[in-house]
Amino acid sequence: MDRLKIRGGKRLEGKIYISGAKNAALPLICASLLTDEKVILTNMPMLSDIKSMNLLLEELGTVIESKDEIIDGNPCKNYTYYTPEFKSLVAPYDFVRKMRASYYVLGPLLARKGYVELSLPGGCAIGARPMDIHLSALEQMGATIEIKNGYVIAKAEKGLHGAHLVFNIASVGATCNILMAATLAKGQTIIENAAREPEIGDLAKMLNSMGAKISGIGSSVLQIDGVERLRGTIHKVIADRIEAGSYAVAAAITRGRIELINAQAETLQTPIKILRQTGVNIEENERSIIVDAKGCTLTGQDIITDYYPGFPTDLQAQFLTLMLTANGASMVTETIFENRFMHVPELLRMGANINVHRHASAIVRGVDKLNAAPVMATDLRASFALVLAGLIAEGETVVNRIYHLDRGYEKLEEKLRSVGADIERIKDSEEE
Ligand code: EPZ
Repeated sequence: MDRLKIRGGKRLEGKIYISGAKNAALPLICASLLTDEKVILTNMPMLSDIKSMNLLLEELGTVIESKDEIIDGNPCKNYTYYTPEFKSLVAPYDFVRKMRASYYVLGPLLARKGYVELSLPGGCAIGARPMDIHLSALEQMGATIEIKNGYVIAKAEKGLHGAHLVFNIASVGATCNILMAATLAKGQTIIENAAREPEIGDLAKMLNSMGAKISGIGSSVLQIDGVERLRGTIHKVIADRIEAGSYAVAAAITRGRIELINAQAETLQTPIKILRQTGVNIEENERSIIVDAKGCTLTGQDIITDYYPGFPTDLQAQFLTLMLTANGASMVTETIFENRFMHVPELLRMGANINVHRHASAIVRGVDKLNAAPVMATDLRASFALVLAGLIAEGETVVNRIYHLDRGYEKLEEKLRSVGADIERIKDSEEE
């Protein structure tokens, strides 16, 4: 398995181009299943999760064409998805176990074909991550749901009908799945306590461009009036706010200055506010964010992760790492997932001072420096936290199992090298 070697101590300065958002692209790809016309997605990131989702859709019968393009200065992919008919309505275990977001085929297949077999995703490193909210909502919309041999078998022979749904948790995945299903349901669907993440707004915008009738976009109450059919469209994926936030921390932790090109400041208001409170200077521009921590003294800040627009759980590990060498203490509380501090044991090996209570909160006390060490990546965002620690640790840090990183960070080492990091990828074959 590939590894990353990082020699710490370099101040990062320059420009980083932010790619299209993984967590927008994944549901957008599945939304293409709702029509028998062509859907073109531009500004798509080159990530292993996108490749996995494309393989799943080809398994179902989708014809996919791709080409390279440059958008807003950033090399990216342009994909055309075309599913005039299906050769399968089954999302097999092998696909779903590798990538939980495979479950985004549930809503579209049920809405368009009235039948789908989906392997249950099972748990993952950061938590049990059930899908009860998805399934109970679809039952309220007229689907029959059966769980058999680890698969969900969902049927809606007479099609889905609208329903007034109240989510007990503002689930991102459930909001996306039900939003897609409701576009072709008979009548009106209301989703109360819908998630408000910008990636959901991007999905709703594309669905409306396909002929859907969605209102309340960006709010926690979505209203969808079902239509007979959806047509093809062309859609540019929004910038990845989590990638942008991750590199903002890279600038702050190395006391450098990075301009995040194409980052959308309006989707990062809470992290920007907290970083400013920490002592980092941040300039918000129309098409970029400038993070300047040169000469800054950083002080510990408390954060509590929350649903959007609160502090994103996907930036918790990165922010906790920033606090490791800040002055004073910082309380980091994780409210979304039950096991999202797996970066902590690895950071402790690098000399950090962190105390975790019951997987829920961590008290961080700033130390003068971190020491390089071989560390193990566990999940996507925790892996980026280890890279951040390596950027400031004295010596050479080796981050193992970086396939986690390749799921969500496009060209990670190239982007960091372009702003002065001393980082290289050791390919598995090079080790022999
Ligand atoms: C999405 O996961 C993201 N993944 C996650 O990003 C992100 O951390 C999460 O939203 C929260 O923002 C993608 O978009 C592909 P949820 P999702 O449904 O949809 C519980 C990354 O690093 N829940 O909002 O799975 C669940 O267990 C990934 O890019 C139920 O109980 O998140 C969790 O505790 C990691 N029942 C909470 O809700 C359900 O039916 C939030 O989950 C669904 C969820």
